[in-house]
Amino acid sequence: MRLEGRAQAGFYPTPESVLALIATHLGRNYNSSLLDPCAGEGVAAAKIGRQIEAHTVGIELEAGRAALSKNRLKQVFQGDAFDHKAEGFSLLFLNPPYDYTDGGERLEVKFLRHYLSSLVVGGVLIYIIPEHYLEAAKGVLTTWFDKLSIYRFPEEEYKAYQQVVIFGVKRGGALSAGLPAVEPLEGGEFEYRIPQGRGAEVYMAGMDEAQMVAEAMQGKAWNLLWDAVKVESLEGARPLLPWREGHLAMLVAGGLVNGTVIAHQGQRFLLRGMVKKNTRTVSEGNQTRETEYLTSSITMLDLKSAELIKVEEQSKELTPIEN
Ligand SMILES: C[S@@+](CC[C@H](N)C(=O)[O-])C[C@H]1O[C@@H](n2cnc3c(N)ncnc32)[C@H](O)[C@@H]1O
Repeated sequence: MRLEGRAQAGFYPTPESVLALIATHLGRNYNSSLLDPCAGEGVAAAKIGRQIEAHTVGIELEAGRAALSKNRLKQVFQGDAFDHKAEGFSLLFLNPPYDYTDGGERLEVKFLRHYLSSLVVGGVLIYIIPEHYLEAAKGVLTTWFDKLSIYRFPEEEYKAYQQVVIFGVKRGGALSAGLPAVEPLEGGEFEYRIPQGRGAEVYMAGMDEAQMVAEAMQGKAWNLLWDAVKVESLEGARPLLPWREGHLAMLVAGGLVNGTVIAHQGQRFLLRGMVKKNTRTVSEGNQTRETEYLTSSITMLDLKSAELIKVEEQSKELTPIEN
């Protein structure tokens, strides 16, 4: 089935009665941000967002539902959630389609893994899946979340898809632990504290090159370019090559490369830096665990030929935090 067709079929909104119960487990923070990468019509994200007083952001593949969710959420991106990345959010509300990927993995798990890095450390996960796929999600959940609770939908609502709602708090690093027992979903005591969001944003996962050139040729980057060209001393101020280990990461983190022009052997380059967080699965004996690492990259646009050159550097694994 095509992606849109699948989305059309995979719409099972969280029942309002269940949303009301979920809300009783959450604290409030008016500086918080909520992301729902499978937003549907936006009802669930709007209700939970109201409870925690969050800035609400949604992504939805199906155009009609995306349009409806725009009336309910602060910001909505229409498109495939796997073409987007996000970071800095306080709460991730994830009720993904219940299906297999073409590669035979559970789609629920692929969504969770992809959106792990959208949460700040201490951020709260609300994850709704059929109970029989808990085992498939166990690895990612127990590696990346503390304070896990698993609640079964009330009897009436459980009948359709046998769902559970999982609450968890994002860890600062990977660790292996077990899953708690499944309990009935009842009213809570606002026990999940919602942290502040940090520069929450959603962006296209892989900006294609044509888009990048187009972006460089207009707006802020273009103005910066001309400002930089006028300042003679900037030209050649930094060597283009060779890059020493850690160099890229430092330049990017220091914000030193966006919109800067450098000269090298008579050519001029416009630089753009980016840091992306990625995850990978590491095997240790017969155990596997998820780890995070950063990729720093600088893309250089040759201002004469409009050719793009990309230099990339990967960090070592982020150090797990021992609890
Ligand atoms: C189970 S519904 C959840 C709706 C809402 N979040 C809720 O809990 O009531 C899943 C939604 O994800 C959307 N969806 C499916 N695949 C998607 C994708 N790759 N990117 C973004 N949205 C997708 C479907 O169109 C559907 O509206």
